[in-house]
Amino acid sequence: MTVRCPTDLIHGDCFIELTGMARHFNVQLKLEGFSATGSIKLKAAVHMIREMERDGTIRPGSRLIESSSGNLGLALSMTCAARGYRFTCVSDPNISTVTAKLIKAYGADLIIVRDHDSNGGYLGTRISLIKTMLKEDDSLVWINQYQNKYNVDAHQNTTAKEILKHYPSPDFVFIGAGTTGTLGGVSRELRERTPATRIVAIDSIGSVTFGGAPGKRRIPGLGTSSPPPIRELAQFDDLLMIPESATIATCRRLARRGLLLGGSSGTVLAGVASYAARIPADSCVVAISPDLGDRYADTIYSDDWVRTHFPELAEALSTLPASPSEQVLS
Ligand SMILES: Cc1ncc(COP(=O)(O)O)c(C=O)c1O
Repeated sequence: MTVRCPTDLIHGDCFIELTGMARHFNVQLKLEGFSATGSIKLKAAVHMIREMERDGTIRPGSRLIESSSGNLGLALSMTCAARGYRFTCVSDPNISTVTAKLIKAYGADLIIVRDHDSNGGYLGTRISLIKTMLKEDDSLVWINQYQNKYNVDAHQNTTAKEILKHYPSPDFVFIGAGTTGTLGGVSRELRERTPATRIVAIDSIGSVTFGGAPGKRRIPGLGTSSPPPIRELAQFDDLLMIPESATIATCRRLARRGLLLGGSSGTVLAGVASYAARIPADSCVVAISPDLGDRYADTIYSDDWVRTHFPELAEALSTLPASPSEQVLS
């Protein structure tokens, strides 16, 4: 693979077949973490910027701003550096230390808000800061991934087609929901091309995206504290709300099998495990892993962090099972 621009370093064809998640089927896990900024969000960043250039929203000299819990911020930082735009990322204390440093390495400005919004998260605070900044500076352009239909189109054009190229008619596809860009785009393409595919959306308990009760969440990626408008474009058959303790347990068990995944991947796979009894034997099951685990070394993979924030898992940390798959299903 030879490319001319760093943002073309997108690897859409990487799947790993996970055995042992259940006895009666394997999971084709789509690994998005090998793209240049380490996550699925590079596709959304590149597509949103290109389309906003095309429709005239972004012009030469525009300064861009966006709210992100990390991965989109990093992807936009790289894309803006490659295309010559100044970029400000508005994030919150859940951003990983490394991601924060990398955003700055690409030359972007990073603002961390510290006040919770009325739902106990930070999204409302991040958005109201951006709205204030937009009022004060009319050269700023807000990408607004939560409302931007190009975020959805990005995944219809890439992620969905990559899945169907390798698995032309999957029986089940499991997709995590953050902004719901991935869910919206992949589900639109699947509904058009393989309507029999059962689409299972995964969210974290505490997220209000689909009307759940608000609650504290510590793992970035999935969930929101204000419902994203583009969720209206998402189509799915079932919705699973997963506790973050199951996310951590799943991530750590898979790490002991040699697969170090990010938090949202753990949530999606915990969802597959909890749904396994409803999946017929030998079904074609696809799940999307938005990023890998290295940026979670100080959180999900840190015993101290887990003991502090998830004391109910403290005992399990010292007794990780030799056969993780059985535990994932329990
Ligand atoms: C690690 C991770 N997982 C999942 C998601 C959710 O993807 P989407 O915003 O397309 O719903 C994100 C979004 O930022 C993410 O960073």
